[in-house]
Amino acid sequence: MKIVVIGGTGLIGSKTVAILRQGGHEVIAASPQSGVNTITGEGLKGALAGAQVVIDLANSPSFEDKAVLEFFETSERSLLPAEASAGVGHHVALSIVAIDRTDNGYFRAKVAQEKLIVASGIPYTIVRATQFLEFLRGIADSSAVGNIVRLPPILFQPIAADDVAPIVAETALAVPRNGIIEIAGPERAPFNEIIARYLKAVGDPRQVVRDPEARYWGGRVEERSLVPLGEARLGRIGFDEWLRRSQAAA
Ligand SMILES: NC(=O)c1ccc[n+]([C@@H]2O[C@H](COP(=O)([O-])OP(=O)(O)OC[C@H]3O[C@@H](n4cnc5c(N)ncnc54)[C@H](OP(=O)(O)O)[C@@H]3O)[C@@H](O)[C@H]2O)c1
Repeated sequence: MKIVVIGGTGLIGSKTVAILRQGGHEVIAASPQSGVNTITGEGLKGALAGAQVVIDLANSPSFEDKAVLEFFETSERSLLPAEASAGVGHHVALSIVAIDRTDNGYFRAKVAQEKLIVASGIPYTIVRATQFLEFLRGIADSSAVGNIVRLPPILFQPIAADDVAPIVAETALAVPRNGIIEIAGPERAPFNEIIARYLKAVGDPRQVVRDPEARYWGGRVEERSLVPLGEARLGRIGFDEWLRRSQAAA
């Protein structure tokens, strides 16, 4: 099967490309690096010719509210019509758990992306994942002022990229759901405690302060704002195992 992975050089993209290639599929790892750009439309027609499945794993270079919204809207507006012209039969996108019930600029952009996918008429499956364990440092950085990281004690259930990619690959080979599936890590714990464990484990001297009023990327959050409310498929890699693997790979 010919499968185009948009963002095929990224964190999840590169792992997904490797899994699908191992399975014997013809896979194009599409990204600006390889001459395929969903913002300008460059290289899209050639990459999509003959493709049965497109997996969109692109991410915005900027997380600023306006820039990220523009990225996902412009990207889908060039990608989806190109897929329709090429006769693509399944569009798979990676989104985030709780984007439609938790407010922040990045989540609003992902909601806009999902709406364009649903309206496109192309058979689709949206995989909504919780935060990646690989994103813990970015979260700490975004919540830090000097050496203090203020975080709310809400529930948090991060998932490893090595759990996300096989599920994305499996989803791409399955029949389109025309709906959403949710995935999360195997462990659920207070947000502030997970980040504190992470910083301690990597020898980062910053101190995590439990602050019920602290926001997540500028948005208000409550106990269950970031975790799945219904049924979710769980990954197998917990925090300790993920840390062991990432330290061994470093
Ligand atoms: N971070 C999280 O915790 C989390 C949780 C759930 C879902 N997600 C979603 O997961 C997806 C993948 O995230 P990631 O962390 O794997 O991303 P990433 O590592 O930042 O990789 C982004 C990819 O997008 C490509 N890209 C950037 N601009 C592009 C353009 N104009 N046209 C085509 N490709 C472009 C990049 O290509 P180059 O290498 O050529 O620049 C790269 O391959 C995102 O949609 C994100 O919203 C993230």
